Amino acid sequence: MNKPHPLDKYAGSWALITGSAREVGLGYAFARQIASRKINLVLVDVLADELESRAAELRSRYGVDVRAIPADLADLSVYPEILDAVSDIDVDVLICDHMFTPQDTPKILDMSLDVHNAMIDINARAYVNLIHPFGNLMVTRGKGAIVVVSSGSGLLPTPFTGSYSANKAFQSLFGEALWFETRGTGVDVLVMSAGLMRTHGDAYSKYPQWQIADPNDAATEALRAIGRKHMVMPGHANRFFTLLNTRLMSRRRAVTMVGKFMARGLGKSAGPKAG
Ligand SMILES: NC(=O)c1ccc[n+]([C@@H]2O[C@H](COP(=O)([O-])OP(=O)(O)OC[C@H]3O[C@@H](n4cnc5c(N)ncnc54)[C@H](OP(=O)(O)O)[C@@H]3O)[C@@H](O)[C@H]2O)c1
Repeated sequence: MNKPHPLDKYAGSWALITGSAREVGLGYAFARQIASRKINLVLVDVLADELESRAAELRSRYGVDVRAIPADLADLSVYPEILDAVSDIDVDVLICDHMFTPQDTPKILDMSLDVHNAMIDINARAYVNLIHPFGNLMVTRGKGAIVVVSSGSGLLPTPFTGSYSANKAFQSLFGEALWFETRGTGVDVLVMSAGLMRTHGDAYSKYPQWQIADPNDAATEALRAIGRKHMVMPGHANRFFTLLNTRLMSRRRAVTMVGKFMARGLGKSAGPKAG
């Protein structure tokens, strides 16, 4: 007999998903799968028009209620507004999925300080500003699920996306510590250590294609792991790559290997000292 799905107990309740506006993104893959379990949705993203389109699609396809909250999560003033907009419902599932990273992936010292600060605001501080209030409400009710969508690059320094990698390390460590601290409260915290996924067209065309996962498969694996694992690494290729880099190599060797891998994938020069 199939095991019950961890989200079945939240049918009829609500899930809030950030970064859920882009049709091909992981956030929208989560949204479709959660809606298919008859859980109503609050979608949050900076892309207001796309968010409305996604909300309309989900309502008509799955018959669930969907609230769309356009918000720039770098702006601290949006958090009281978000909490106000959901004050009449119980958000039992929180998926922190949004992220910001510049497309041209400059080296750390070549990226402007403004961009570094924006990345910290959006990828680190915003996660805290969402997880803290919603986590406390969940603990008070004695139930809930929080998925922190991080990345394998949060487990190992990733040159050429160094700031992103450091932001993801923040998310992973924050989420893992929270998992431990909330054990026994009825709240399940899960860190998703995602590998490369096909969410940005041909942006990853220079990477080995066996490493690029379908975001739908990754979302399915992550949702099934709620309450069962503290960290999920969806996909065989992702698990293999993480094992290789974090367990089977010295740290220095691993960061050098990943630097060369990233340089190849992004069409950058690995530099004279990368050896
Ligand atoms: N794709 C991968 O290969 C991969 C690998 C490992 C981990 N992940 C993680 O998986 C998650 C989803 O990735 P994805 O590829 O699906 O990304 P995505 O499609 O780019 O989704 C991120 C969403 O967040 C939005 N966003 C950016 N800044 C925001 C802000 N200030 N306030 C509110 N929303 C904002 C983005 O809008 P804009 O498009 O306007 O920026 C976008 O709609 C991310 O956390 C990512 O780090 C992805």
